[in-house]
Amino acid sequence: MVELAPSLLSSNFSNIQADLDKLKDANIKYLHLDIMDGIFVPNISFGFGLIKSIRKNNDFIFDTHLMIDEPIRYLEEFKDSGSDIITVHYEACSDLNKTLEKIRKLGLKVGLTFKPKTKVECILPYLKKVDVCLVMSVEPGFGGQSFMEDSLDKVRNIKKYIDENELNCLIEIDGGIKTHNLKRVIDSGVDLVVSGSDIFSNGEIKDQVFKYYKIFNS
Ligand code: DX5
Ligand code: ZN
Repeated sequence: MVELAPSLLSSNFSNIQADLDKLKDANIKYLHLDIMDGIFVPNISFGFGLIKSIRKNNDFIFDTHLMIDEPIRYLEEFKDSGSDIITVHYEACSDLNKTLEKIRKLGLKVGLTFKPKTKVECILPYLKKVDVCLVMSVEPGFGGQSFMEDSLDKVRNIKKYIDENELNCLIEIDGGIKTHNLKRVIDSGVDLVVSGSDIFSNGEIKDQVFKYYKIFNS
């Protein structure tokens, strides 16, 4: 069963809880949290304070995508704020093994992602240590960008590697997903689909989520 993880980045920041209530009504399980530091990516989003505050009233699985340089410095804080999954970038970690091990030791699910220009082969050796492999289908940094078609080949390569090596690793995809490309995305073999602007900025949130579910089940 494929799951949808709406990205908070595209929600209405002046009334976040109203949007989250709609996601809850639509039976959403995962909430994707995009953290940007203005250094690893040319944008700044939000931090621990906001996560902690929404954690109090919401039971979603908090899927935290760290677009920050040397995330190992802040893993405890993201755990304490309420993250369930922490995903780090291959390019952002000077000691990737140590970073992944630290997430594991904190008792969280371990996620690994990579920028579109990084070769899939670079991340394959780490997948045995990872619960979620996130394929970026846009350059990280902003919501609302166009989907990169070649990301589907990356998903297929990663899926093949996971199956051949009998690994227990989910595949997530993030960036530019819309109802019109969703079917092809699902058919490539992903388990988790992130969607931001198409969920929050395209009419009624609940109706949009249901359109996704319908395509998941088609
Ligand atoms: C981009 C983020 C994405 C983004 C997705 O850096 O990682 O999660 O918010 O937004 P859409 O679905 O609008 O591309
Ligand atoms: Zn993301």
